[in-house]
Amino acid sequence: MKKPVKVAVTGAAGQIAYSLIFRIASGSLFGPDQPVHLQLLEVPVPEVLEKLKGTVMEVEDCAFPLVSGITATGDMNEAFSGTDYAFLVGARPRGPGMERKDLLTANGGIFGPQGKAIAANASKDVRVLVVGNPANTNALIAATAAKGLDPKQFHAMVRLDHNRAVSLLSGKTGVHGNDIEKVIIWGNHSSTQYPDLHNTSVGGKPALSLIDQAWYANEFIPTVQQRGAAIIKARGLSSAASAASAAVDHMRDWALGSNGKWVSMGVPSDGSYGIAPGVVYGYPCICKNGQYEIVQGLDVNEFSRAKMLATETELREERAAIEELLKA
Ligand code: NAI
Repeated sequence: MKKPVKVAVTGAAGQIAYSLIFRIASGSLFGPDQPVHLQLLEVPVPEVLEKLKGTVMEVEDCAFPLVSGITATGDMNEAFSGTDYAFLVGARPRGPGMERKDLLTANGGIFGPQGKAIAANASKDVRVLVVGNPANTNALIAATAAKGLDPKQFHAMVRLDHNRAVSLLSGKTGVHGNDIEKVIIWGNHSSTQYPDLHNTSVGGKPALSLIDQAWYANEFIPTVQQRGAAIIKARGLSSAASAASAAVDHMRDWALGSNGKWVSMGVPSDGSYGIAPGVVYGYPCICKNGQYEIVQGLDVNEFSRAKMLATETELREERAAIEELLKA
């Protein structure tokens, strides 16, 4: 057996974690030969830590062969001690009457300190995936606070949107998702995201030759953008198992490679495609040897450019709203 890797999950008593922790523990993340030490963080509130204890009891009761140890704590320095992979899931939800700026600032109060704690305690090669919303700007805050680490070590999750786009296109064309390649989610994990099919192939054929432009523009794009709200309407709760599954997909591809496939990842913009450097933006990426690269050289038509700019504008506004926090 290999040496265990340390995997941290924040928001560990929450809904997504209730699926994510068990997927990690069962080997979905790194396969059947890689033991994991789970590091579970929650807010230091007795009732919440008691709830977390319940989740830990269930993990224990699964007798997972790959779990080498469990740390469950309300102390972020302890939770991130030696961490190799961190899933930052816990976040402050939008309360009644809360403006976007208030939401961003409240989350800054979580992701700034967590970024610092990661820099101080985690492995220098740590990979961090921010799931908690607003994920892209939370990732920017955490990366900025994590002095000494490379911002490229902090990603935001747009993989759920990517997977939703593949699934919707599969349903429309009758071709299995395994044969759908080069879907892109550009921009923010929000309703401004741009699911782009201009490079997509379906069973080897261009996607846009199989579906009509009106369905693409008026059905496909809004359905992917609004899918989170549709799940809440149907389930009475937000997407959790699918979010956890996407988080596993993202981290596994990042760590183990995407085998030449394009995957959508929220990563710090390096200015590619004219996007403001620094904002955490959904890009098509290829992962290899534990690193990711943004796919370069794609043609962007006017339709796509307008949508890429709309979601970039939202991210720039989010960044402007928490500018002071980034200087702290
Ligand atoms: P939840 O409300 O069930 O659980 C969140 C947990 O985080 C709670 O137990 C809470 O106590 C904890 N938490 C809050 N602040 C914390 C902190 N400072 N440290 C540690 N834990 C903390 O929420 P759920 O459904 O698990 O969703 C979590 C987040 O993921 C939300 O922000 C949600 O909007 C986001 N999300 C993101 C998706 C994406 O595609 N990027 C998809 C679905 C959800």
